[in-house]
Amino acid sequence: MERLQKVIASYGYASRRKAEELILNGQVKVNDTIVTELGTKVNSTDIIEIDGQVINNEIKKVYYLLNKPSGVITSTKDEKNRQTVVDLIPTSTRIYPIGRLDYDTTGLIILTNDGELANILMHPKNNIPKTYLARINGLLNKDDIERLKNGIVIDNRKVDTSDFKIKDKNFDKKTSLIEITIHEGRNHIVKNIFASLNHPVIKLKRTKIAFLTLDDLKIGEYRPLKIKEIKKLYSLK
Ligand code: URA
Repeated sequence: MERLQKVIASYGYASRRKAEELILNGQVKVNDTIVTELGTKVNSTDIIEIDGQVINNEIKKVYYLLNKPSGVITSTKDEKNRQTVVDLIPTSTRIYPIGRLDYDTTGLIILTNDGELANILMHPKNNIPKTYLARINGLLNKDDIERLKNGIVIDNRKVDTSDFKIKDKNFDKKTSLIEITIHEGRNHIVKNIFASLNHPVIKLKRTKIAFLTLDDLKIGEYRPLKIKEIKKLYSLK
């Protein structure tokens, strides 16, 4: 880890003093976040931008689609030493997950070192659809269905829950399988939606983000994204 102004100077972009000015003026971004703190430390995989121009762009961008198993956390490291999604992909590049899935949720998650793509997929204004299969307790009645059609208020903000299908009803076990597509990424959102209908989620799997699906990736398997898929994700901006 090195001080940001030293790294900028080492790329020959500016003298160290000039680099300090650029930082204080808010002209420097590290991994897409403006940094105005002179002591900030960076390493060789951090992406540094000055006035919108990446100055260390020799770092290869990588993109993976993972079918996350249950019992793995969506983070780059864990203080309790639990396995993370990053541990499942052997790469020397410092990657991180875009968005999150709960510890017990399985399914599709993208990992990358591309902060710009992460921003595109996470930004609420881009309305990226995400589809989940939720096994819930109980069977939806007419009132539940009506409420889902109208949208559900979670923490004082309405979620559009109108895009859902009942895929299966198990009358013996009194459970249902619901496919639901939502356009936001608040934590535990699907569990909170069904909890508010008194149908707690028993099992949750994300099956789709925008046009990307799991296809035949088994749990714990991953694949690199194709260039045309990366371009298509960028076009969702
Ligand atoms: N909603 C949830 O409740 N959990 C997830 O992991 C993803 C969406």
